[in-house]
Amino acid sequence: MSKYQSVRGTRDLLPEIKSVFRRIDETALASAQNYGFKEIETPIFEFSDVFHRSLGETSDAVSKETYTFTDRGGDQLTLRPEGTAGVVRAFVSEGLAQHIPLKYYYYGPMFRYERPQKGRYRQFYQLGVEVLGLESALADLECLDLAWSILKKLRLSNRCILEINTLGDTESRQNYRQALVDYLTPFKEQLSADSKVRFEKNPMRILDSKDEGDKKIIADAPRMESFLNESSKKFFSDVLAGLTKLNIPYKINPQLVRGLDYYCHTVFEFTTAELGAQSAVLSGGRYDGLTETLGGPKTPGVGWAAGVDRLAELCSTELQPASHKSPVALAALGDSAQLEALAIASSLREKNIEAHVFLTGNLKKKLEKANKLGAEKTILIFEQENGSFEYKIKDFKTGSESAGSREDMMNLFS
Ligand code: HAM
Repeated sequence: MSKYQSVRGTRDLLPEIKSVFRRIDETALASAQNYGFKEIETPIFEFSDVFHRSLGETSDAVSKETYTFTDRGGDQLTLRPEGTAGVVRAFVSEGLAQHIPLKYYYYGPMFRYERPQKGRYRQFYQLGVEVLGLESALADLECLDLAWSILKKLRLSNRCILEINTLGDTESRQNYRQALVDYLTPFKEQLSADSKVRFEKNPMRILDSKDEGDKKIIADAPRMESFLNESSKKFFSDVLAGLTKLNIPYKINPQLVRGLDYYCHTVFEFTTAELGAQSAVLSGGRYDGLTETLGGPKTPGVGWAAGVDRLAELCSTELQPASHKSPVALAALGDSAQLEALAIASSLREKNIEAHVFLTGNLKKKLEKANKLGAEKTILIFEQENGSFEYKIKDFKTGSESAGSREDMMNLFS
């Protein structure tokens, strides 16, 4: 075994799986474009403060999971654990507020120092969307509809369910938070170590705890829905009515609070029963206060991100390879004939034809490789004594072989 392995929690995306990732990205991007989203790419690292301020000090992503380092200039930088903070930072620092509403799509690697397991990596890939500048529940619905349409295109919609909840507006959340603290105070000493910290800093995250002891305590805790003010109730009921109108099945999960601190109103996760503990394949929600937290003008926002590693795990067997024309193979004998093969292949490739030149092995081996590749036709090139070339075309479908000029070969594929 080699001394060097990939770092724990990271992996090499070898061609087979990489092609599934690419197909997922292409499918999602094409759908997002149909919904009027434009692609954006922000840097993989940002000043650490961008994440500390936006995701919240108590979120796991910031408190335990960041890859943070000081660069040679003394700046504190963090590899992005998610995409929303960077997009919102770009919105603020690029002064894009006068262009709202804005609808962005992104794809790329994210980094979290989590305990690796199936479906959970330290470098993983997200594709996501963010809508900035729309406060209506219709924006939440358009995002959810896009998510559903992508899952349908990937043929995953019957294997996922939308779980949804509301965190209400600031006023509703403050009232609820107080009620929750009052309820939890007598149990404080029985809470898990993590939840004791959350009790002080962000008690609503305790609802999300996976600890069995915490779960028992939470079972009888007051519910958010009793603390929603009228406008928050209306917002949520508009979202739910819209889901029904759009034929998107959902399940209300009152315990869904999400791990990042920036959310308000709608929060949701599309989950699957097929990936064990890592059940969320696509999740997001509304974040109306985030632009201000990063020093920008008050701008409502809503969006989601999907875990591409998890989508790929689910759909690698479902996803058909992109239908494309059968490749052309070139088999030549002798150095100058090989070079001629490269030149012909180059012209074919310029015409957007996939062409493969086999540079090793005898003619029989080359033909075997061409057959294995799925090439219907193979161009054979032989060097003549006078330095010119003889060209033949072998058709694997019919088994025929015919001679011709260089032009004849090229014309066969135009
Ligand atoms: P998140 O729930 O932290 O939300 O991550 C979104 C998705 O990324 C998850 O549903 C999951 O599929 C995938 N994911 C998260 N961590 C890992 C991991 N360690 N390994 C593999 N996949 C993972 C966000 O990141 C928000 N920025 C989503 C959002 C966008 N909210 C509003 N806009």
